[in-house]
Amino acid sequence: MDAIVGYSYTAKTDYEERYKDENYYWGIAPNRLCCEIMKLRPPIKPYRVLDMGCGEGKDAVFLARNGYQVTAFDVAESGLKKARELAYVNGVEVDFIRADINEFKPVEMYDIVFCSGVCHYIRKDIRATLFKELKEHTTEGGIHAMNVFVQKPFIEIPPDSEEIERQTEPWYSGELLYYYNDWLFHKNEETIFNCNSGGIPHRHCMDIMIAEKGEADAET
Ligand SMILES: C[S@@+](CC[C@H](N)C(=O)[O-])C[C@H]1O[C@@H](n2cnc3c(N)ncnc32)[C@H](O)[C@@H]1O
Repeated sequence: MDAIVGYSYTAKTDYEERYKDENYYWGIAPNRLCCEIMKLRPPIKPYRVLDMGCGEGKDAVFLARNGYQVTAFDVAESGLKKARELAYVNGVEVDFIRADINEFKPVEMYDIVFCSGVCHYIRKDIRATLFKELKEHTTEGGIHAMNVFVQKPFIEIPPDSEEIERQTEPWYSGELLYYYNDWLFHKNEETIFNCNSGGIPHRHCMDIMIAEKGEADAET
């Protein structure tokens, strides 16, 4: 069945090993974008959420605890195992799936698509198609909340970056927004922040976006 909907597990990620540690590599506090999702689409009904590249599940579980109906995927089985444990101890159901974002074909409709720290794995040649399909599989008024690392000449490549990241064509400022030029933006910012992942301090530049499907004047 997985193969029919285009899932395959060919991608390799260093996170497969990193997530084998008993501690949660990214902690269990939700990403700030999840709180912004809750403000924009408070869970007055079980909105369907897709979390792409969910890692160890902190955001998927947070949203499920708050009443959203969450499907989440990642290519790292070790992350999914911990994500399922996190859902279990929090007493919530999340549909965790193993999938490669470069093979993923949305089949269901979603109200909210969330993706944090993962877009940089998406191959350049499939970006336009993937975002088009994700947008088509979003309900009217649905939102996408995403971020992407962007390349800047004054920021060095992170010391813990993976071989696969270095092989994938980088993203540039505004590229993510470009895929959403026909949606309404609730958030559109670029930020530089310090990071200590891998134990070596470094910096990232990130574009952060929340966009809504529908006419730009539907909200006004
Ligand atoms: C920076 S982590 C972000 C994890 C999670 N979104 C979070 O914020 O905690 C990047 C994640 O992308 C996943 N990943 C890497 N390549 C992938 C691929 N081709 N398809 C799906 N997930 C992938 C890794 O396993 C890892 O969990």
